[in-house]
Amino acid sequence: MLTNLMDKVAARQRINSLRESLTHHDELYYRQGTLEIPDQEYDALKRELAELESEWPELTSEASPTQHVGDDRTEGFAKVKHRERMMSLDNTYNEAELREFDARLRKRFPDRPLPYVIEPKIDGVAVCLTYEQGKLVRAVTRGNGVEGDVITANVREGIPDLPDTLAGDNWPELIEIRGEIYMTLEEFRRINTEREEKQLPLFANPRNLTSGTIKQLGGVGGRRLEIVLYGMGYCQPASFSTQSDFHQAVRRWKLPTLEQYWTANSIDEAWKCIEKLDTLRHDFTYDTDGAVIKLDNIALQAEAGATAKAPRWAIAYKFAAEQAETTLESIDVQIGRTGAVTPVARLKPVLLAGTTVSNATLHNEDEIARKDIRPGDTVVVQKAGEIIPQVLRVITEKRPADSEPFNFSAFLEARGIEAERVPGQAAWRLKGKGDPTQTRRRIKHFASKVCLDIENLGEAVVDQLVSKNLIHDAADIYRLRVEDLLPLEKFAQKSSENLIAAIEASKDKELWRLLHALGIPNVGAQSSKDIVAHFHSLPAIMRASTEELEAVEGVGKIVAESIRDFFQDEANLDLVNRLIDYGLRIEQEAPAAADPGSAPLAGKTVVLTGTLPSLKRDEATAMIEAAGGRTSSSVSKKTDYVLAGEEAGSKLAKAEKLGVQVLDEAAFRALLGG
Ligand code: IVH
Repeated sequence: MLTNLMDKVAARQRINSLRESLTHHDELYYRQGTLEIPDQEYDALKRELAELESEWPELTSEASPTQHVGDDRTEGFAKVKHRERMMSLDNTYNEAELREFDARLRKRFPDRPLPYVIEPKIDGVAVCLTYEQGKLVRAVTRGNGVEGDVITANVREGIPDLPDTLAGDNWPELIEIRGEIYMTLEEFRRINTEREEKQLPLFANPRNLTSGTIKQLGGVGGRRLEIVLYGMGYCQPASFSTQSDFHQAVRRWKLPTLEQYWTANSIDEAWKCIEKLDTLRHDFTYDTDGAVIKLDNIALQAEAGATAKAPRWAIAYKFAAEQAETTLESIDVQIGRTGAVTPVARLKPVLLAGTTVSNATLHNEDEIARKDIRPGDTVVVQKAGEIIPQVLRVITEKRPADSEPFNFSAFLEARGIEAERVPGQAAWRLKGKGDPTQTRRRIKHFASKVCLDIENLGEAVVDQLVSKNLIHDAADIYRLRVEDLLPLEKFAQKSSENLIAAIEASKDKELWRLLHALGIPNVGAQSSKDIVAHFHSLPAIMRASTEELEAVEGVGKIVAESIRDFFQDEANLDLVNRLIDYGLRIEQEAPAAADPGSAPLAGKTVVLTGTLPSLKRDEATAMIEAAGGRTSSSVSKKTDYVLAGEEAGSKLAKAEKLGVQVLDEAAFRALLGG
C-alpha cells in the first residue's frame, strides 16, 4: 500500500516535470519555430509521459500535452476555424510498433482488405488551403488544430509556385487541402550567406526559417518558400473514396504535391515501400524525416476515427536521425550583430549524412549544463533535418579523468568577453552592445509624452535602467517587475508599483502612439495618425507596400519607403513582434466620421509655427484634430491654414509667398466657433 502510494507520488512528480518540459518545447516549436532538443528526444519525453499516464489513469489530465496538438497561433493574425480538425500523427521509430498499428486495424476490420498508402513525411510547417470554386481563398496554419492563423497574404507572396486557380474544371465546390510549407536548401543557404556577409546571426535550419518567414507580420521579406500538398480536410460535395484518388486529383489540378507515394496491400508490402523511400528520400527537394502510412479507403478512415490528437488510421514511421561519434575539442562562442553570445562546439571533423562536420551548435548556457558537455568529451552528434548539427549527448564512460564541468560565465570572463545573461532567458548578450546613447535615446522617445506617454519613465530612469542592464530596448520595459525597480535611485515600493502600472497602462494607448514610438525615420506624430486612420492595424501597416502607404493622405515616397525599410529589418521586426507578444494594442477602430457641419476643419491641413499666446502646441494640435483637421509640419500649396504665433520664421514667410491663409490664435479660436 505504502509502496503504491510512493510510486504514485513519484509518478505524479515525473508526470508534472514531463508536462512542464513538453509544454516548454511545444511553445518553442509551434510558436517560435525553433527546437532546443532533437526531435527524437522530444518524442521520447512525450512517449514516457503517455506511458505514465496510461499506467496512472487518475493522473491523466485533458490539459496534458499528450492530449492535444501544439498551438502555433500568434497575435497579429486573424483567426479562422478549420472546417475539419487538423490533427497530428502518432509517431513510431520501430517496425514492431508499425505492425501493431496494422494489427489493431485488422482487428477492427476483420476480413476486409486494408490497402495502405505510403507517403514521405515532410518536415515543414503545416498549412490548410481552402479552394472555393477552384480559387484559393484562404491559407491557415494548424493553430491548435481547431483554429489557426490566417496567413493567406504571406502564402501568396512567398510561394510563387502555388497556383491561385486549380487547373481543369473538375473540382469540388469547396475543398480544404492540407500540406506542408518548406524552404529548399538552396534558398536557405542563399539567405544565410547574405546574413553572414551582413554579420547577422544565422538561421539554424530551413524549418525554423520557414516557420519564422510564414508567420512574419510584415510579409515574407523576399524569401522564397515551397509547398507540398498531401491531404484532404473538408470537401463539399464529398468527391473521393480513396486517398490515392485524392492524390490523382491534386496532380490533375496541377498543385505541387508529393514527388512519390506508394500503395500497398499489406503491412509487409508497406514496409518494403518504407525501405525504398529511405533510399530515395535524400534526392527529394524537401526534407523527409519519415514515412506516413495511411489507410487508403476514406470510408474506413472515418470508421476508424481518431484519438484526441491523432487519427487511428494513420501513423508516422520516423527514420532514425543520422548520428556520429567524435571528440569535442573545445567550446567557442559566436557573437551576433545584436550582441547575442552563442556557444558552439569545435569538433574533430567527422563524416555525417554525407558532409564533414566540424562545428555544432550548443544553443545556450542551460543546454550545456543540462547535457553536462565538457571540452575533451566524446560526444554523439546528430543531423536530423538540421543543417547545423547538434550535440546529442556525451559518452560519459569515455570522459577524461581530469575533466571538469564547463562554467560558461567563467569561460567568457577568461576570454575577456564582457557579457551578461538576459534576464529571464538562457541567452547571453554583450554588455553595452550597440551605441548606448542611441539605445537610451530610442527608449526615451518610446516612453515620451508624444509617444506612449509612460508617466515617470523619464530620462533619469531610462538612464539607470539601461546602465544597470535591466533593459536593452523598448520592448524590455514590459518585462520589468517591481523587484527590478526597487534598487534604483529614488524608487520605493509605491513608486515602483506606480511605474509598473504606468507601463502596463501604456499597452492600451492609441495605436498611432505605438507607431510613432517605434522611431521610424521620417515618421512623426501626424504621419502616424494619418497612417493608423487609414490602415487601422499594425500588421496591415507592416504588410503594406510603398504604393499602399503612399495612398495615405500626407504620406509621400520618402515616408513610405522609410516605413517599408523599417519593417524589412530583422532586428526591427524582432522588436515589434516582442511588443505584440507583450500585448500592446495593435488595432485601432476607425473613429466615427465627423459630421461635416460640426467639424469646421474637416479635410483641412494646418501648419503650426511660432509660440501662441495661450495655447501649447499639443493643445492646438488636439483642437485641430477635434475639429476634423490634421496638422502638417511643412507648408505647401496643399496647406489650408498656417496658425502662427510669435517668432514664426520661414514657415510664415512661405505661407505668405504661397498665399496660404495665416491665422493668429484669436482668429483660430473664432474659426473653431469661439
Ligand atoms: S497526414 C490526419 N501526411 O506531420 C492526418 N501529415 O507529425 C495528419 N506531415 O500534422 C496529417 N507529411 O503536419 C500527413 N504525408 C504526410 C505528412 C504529414 C508531413 C506533417 C503534418 C502532421 C505532422 C504530424
